[in-house]
Amino acid sequence: MRALLSPVYSSWPLSVDRAEGIKIWTDKGVFLDGFAGIGVLPLGHSYPDVLRAIGEKAARYVHLSNFFLDPDAGAVAEQLASLAGRPGEAYFSNSGAEANEAALKAIKKHRKGLIVSFEGNFHGRTLGSLSVTWGPAMRKPFEPLVPGCVFLPPDGEALLKFAGENEVAAVFLECVQGNSGVHLLKDGLAEAARELQRKEGVLLVADEIQGGLGRTGKPFSYMHWGLEPDIITVGKGVGGGLPLGAALFCGWSPFGAGDHGSTFAPNPLSLAAGKATLAHINADFIAEVARKGKAFMKALAGLPWALEVRGKGLMIGAGARDASEVQKKAFERGVLLNVAGGSVRFLPSLAATGDELAELADRLRF
Ligand SMILES: Cc1ncc(COP(=O)(O)O)c(C=O)c1O
Repeated sequence: MRALLSPVYSSWPLSVDRAEGIKIWTDKGVFLDGFAGIGVLPLGHSYPDVLRAIGEKAARYVHLSNFFLDPDAGAVAEQLASLAGRPGEAYFSNSGAEANEAALKAIKKHRKGLIVSFEGNFHGRTLGSLSVTWGPAMRKPFEPLVPGCVFLPPDGEALLKFAGENEVAAVFLECVQGNSGVHLLKDGLAEAARELQRKEGVLLVADEIQGGLGRTGKPFSYMHWGLEPDIITVGKGVGGGLPLGAALFCGWSPFGAGDHGSTFAPNPLSLAAGKATLAHINADFIAEVARKGKAFMKALAGLPWALEVRGKGLMIGAGARDASEVQKKAFERGVLLNVAGGSVRFLPSLAATGDELAELADRLRF
């Protein structure tokens, strides 16, 4: 079968029967899932409310196209604005990268100048989103990418100096960098970005595709730094396991009719699953994520192989001398782990219980 598929993914030698919560039943036994479909399942696998919402919607219709207004689109947009605590207008997409494409087009339509991103940022693999994604290995074969996108070291001084010498239209922030191994934004960079936004009207984009929706113990990760982005992009968990993304434009309305679009977006089933998922992501749920995250990080920090454990909430990176070796040993002990940026990256279901997370950490004691 592999010969029929583009070899872009290296899949595990597992055949999956079913999945529920943080467990996956396979032909090689039952595994604990340490990364929830790459941070896509906030409530874990097969959450009953989400399955019910998908089934009920599918029984009515599966796809109509963007000529029809789906009331669930308004509901999800409202849930997102409520999480952000600010009015916002949502453009829905089918993925995270596409949400960032929408952000890029909104910026290009409204402001002249360079688009700044930072070393270590990941924003997707389509040509536009790749243009603001760091990593020579990922970018090089596809250059030239979108012109006018530049990378700076992730510190405030570098940003202010650059903005003093160049016209900057927008700044892309990934406040907790996920794909480069879970690294937190430096306070100075948040302050500098805020200053440029206030004084120069530079548009601030917070990519919350991985760090949003309660994952870091706040509704959105930028909130740890007191930012107020002009654009918030979401993806991954927003569709409750089905493909959905959104660019939330806070307090402005960049697009007119025909400016942007996609045949599939927003998919009715994804909206139903997203609405059912977001209904659970309230203040109490998010406070629990923060509490469970602290206990889980403490447990991980006590593991013999863990060099440094960093993160917020249930978005955690653990340095190791050989992260792939840790992943292999974890597999043998029935735990599925993900390696990102040379570290082990934990993105478990936000609904995992304290006991489940403790068991997961315990199995990694080698
Ligand atoms: C921060 C961030 N932005 C954008 C993306 C791209 O999202 P997608 O894979 O849905 O296109 C990802 C995916 O890992 C991400 O983590």
